[in-house]
Parts: sequence; C-alpha cells; structure tokens
Amino acid sequence: MTAPTGRLPGHPPRSRPVPTDPAVDALVAALPKVSLHCHLIGAVSPQTVVELAAKHGVRPERGAADLYDHDSYEDLGEFLRVLDVVGSVIRDVEDFHRVTYESLTAGGADHNVVYREIQLSPPGHPGVPYPRILEGVVAGLRDARADTGIEARLVIGINRERSGAEAVELVEQVVEHRIDEVVGIGLDYAEVNGPPGRFVEAYQLAGRAGLGRTAHSESGPPGHIRTLLDELGCSRVDHGYHVVDDPELTARCVAEGVPFNCTPVSSDIGRYSGSGDGTHARIRQMVDAGLRVTIDSDDPPMFGTDPTHDLRVLAHALGYRRDELASFTWNAIDACWLDETGKASLRARAEAMVAATPDAPPPPPSDPTEETPR
Ligand code: ADE
Ligand code: ZN
Repeated sequence: MTAPTGRLPGHPPRSRPVPTDPAVDALVAALPKVSLHCHLIGAVSPQTVVELAAKHGVRPERGAADLYDHDSYEDLGEFLRVLDVVGSVIRDVEDFHRVTYESLTAGGADHNVVYREIQLSPPGHPGVPYPRILEGVVAGLRDARADTGIEARLVIGINRERSGAEAVELVEQVVEHRIDEVVGIGLDYAEVNGPPGRFVEAYQLAGRAGLGRTAHSESGPPGHIRTLLDELGCSRVDHGYHVVDDPELTARCVAEGVPFNCTPVSSDIGRYSGSGDGTHARIRQMVDAGLRVTIDSDDPPMFGTDPTHDLRVLAHALGYRRDELASFTWNAIDACWLDETGKASLRARAEAMVAATPDAPPPPPSDPTEETPR
C-alpha cells in the first residue's frame, strides 16, 4: 500500500478539541439520526482496512493506529488518494458484506442512526464488476437490518474526475441491474477536476429511470449549485456551503425547500466549507437563512468523527440543543428517497426517540475576557 497516510511535516492538526460535557454527550448520543451523506469507502475502520489488505496480500505501509491522517490532510486530493487505497482492498463479495455491515452497525445503529442512504462509489473499486459489489453490499444491508433494525438504501456515486461518457456507462449499469435498494445517484471526488455540467447526459438518463439525484458541491461557486438544480435535476445537494454567497440562490433554495447534506467535521478539517476555523459559520448561516440542512459525517473514521460526534461539535460551536439538533433529522426524513409509507414509519420511530430524550441545559454564559473555546 503506497498511500500518503501519515502526518506529513508542515501539516498541522486541524481538528478542534471539543469540551467535555456529559449532558451534551448524553443528548447527542440518544438523538435519532438519519444519514444522507456517508461514503461506504470512507466509513471503513482502520483495523478492517489492515485486515483486508493482509487478506489480499497487500502490505500496508502503516498500521491501524496511524492509517488515517484525519487531522491534517493537505487538501481534498491527498484525502482522496487515501480513499483510493481503501477502495482497492475491498474486492470480493465477503469484503463488501463486511464493510457494509460494520458501517451500519458499529458506524450507524450504535449511534442511533435509524436510516442511512449509503453513498457507494463503484469506480473506487477498480476491476470489481458492479453486480458483485451490489451482491455483497445488499447482503450487508440485510444482515445489519436483521441484527439492529437499521434501514438503509444506496446512492451510486459517479467519479467526477472521470469523463462524462464513463458516467453514462455507470448509470447504464445501474439501470440494467436495477434493484429496489438503489434509490439514486450522486457525484463525488474532486469538484475542481469535474464541473457538474460534464454530467448532464448521465443525470438525464438517471432521471428518465426514476432515480433520485444529488451531487457534491463543496468548494465550487454558487453557479455549480444552479447547474445541479437546473441541468442535472438534483433534488438535493451534498455540502453546498457556497449557496450563502448568493442571496438570490439562497432565497430560491429556501422557497423550493432544497435539502443540503452538510458534514461539519470533515468540511472543517478540509476547509471545504470555507471556514476551517471550528466556527462552522456557514452551517449557522445556512440554518439561519431558513435552508433545509441535514447533518452527517461524510467519511467518519477517515476524519476522526462519527454520527454522534458531528452533532456534539455543532452543539458546542453553535449552541444547538435538542430541538435544533432534532430538526436535522426531520429535514433528512423529508429529504430521503423512501416512499411516503417508509418516511411515515421512520418519522414515528424518530419522534418516539426524541420524546424520550431529555434536553441538555444551555451552556453557561461565556466570559468575554476568555478565549472562545473551540
Ligand atoms: N468521498 C468521495 N468524494 C468525496 C468528497 N468529495 N468529499 C468527501 N468524501 C468523498
Ligand atoms: Zn461526501
């Protein structure tokens, strides 16, 4: 394995220490979560990566303890090259079953995730036929649901660094091997290397097949979000932080109720949200503008986070308590691609869990002479 996985000289840590508060911890752990932005390849524990590498005769450069340099990826490109290594050791049906199952149980149900739409990126597993990927992943979904009750569906990710023709081929495969578990398509990898306009044909094909459509817009300008809505037919946006740079687009997205699937920890470490300072200011701006925000953890172990921790971070940075945090779950239920019956049962389950969760007291007023805790 030849990925740049260790902390490189000159890459200072970027993640922010979060204060310990048992009441907040209990609150964020107990809240039900609906996860619309979590990549399967990014959700594999380092121990599993090391074991799969050994199984396939790949010699890891590093052990599980320092496989992910989640504090200090130099940029998205460096992170994505680590992702490539992880994807390359997930090869057979048993591997796909394992990583799916683990991501939905230890990485999902254990955090009270009640529903997830997993972002699955076939191009991240070179040489593995799409039907074989589906076979293992669907078995993982089934077993995770049987053991924990978590529901999950799949969103198939196009690698935007590749050509529009390759994207069309992938969507053709998705249509040819259509199964109920696959509810939509997404667009991932580096936005800077793949403007959304390149993928109009693939998205139109998906639209004609009745698939849901979403796409990442992390670093790109507000114009990319317009392209997603107007040309790709997306009904939701992954990240989309730069929407708030454009008041007219913001007003439109509020009026249309466009969901934005935000990921505080990964976006702050990566500075893709434009902040990188632990304030999560863009997420606050989006919420305050009336945009429909959902919260998830993107690539949890790779960024040293998990579904509970992303909420904890917002509770501390933005002062959100039970009702604000639960609103991310209500937004995600509205935005997900289950049918109305599925959404109603999810809502009922989540409402019972929120009702059983005591709120945490608001934080004490901060001393203006002290440095703001991060
Ligand atoms: N996984 C694949 N593409 C990604 C992206 N652009 N951001 C975060 N995780 C990803
Ligand atoms: Zn993502």
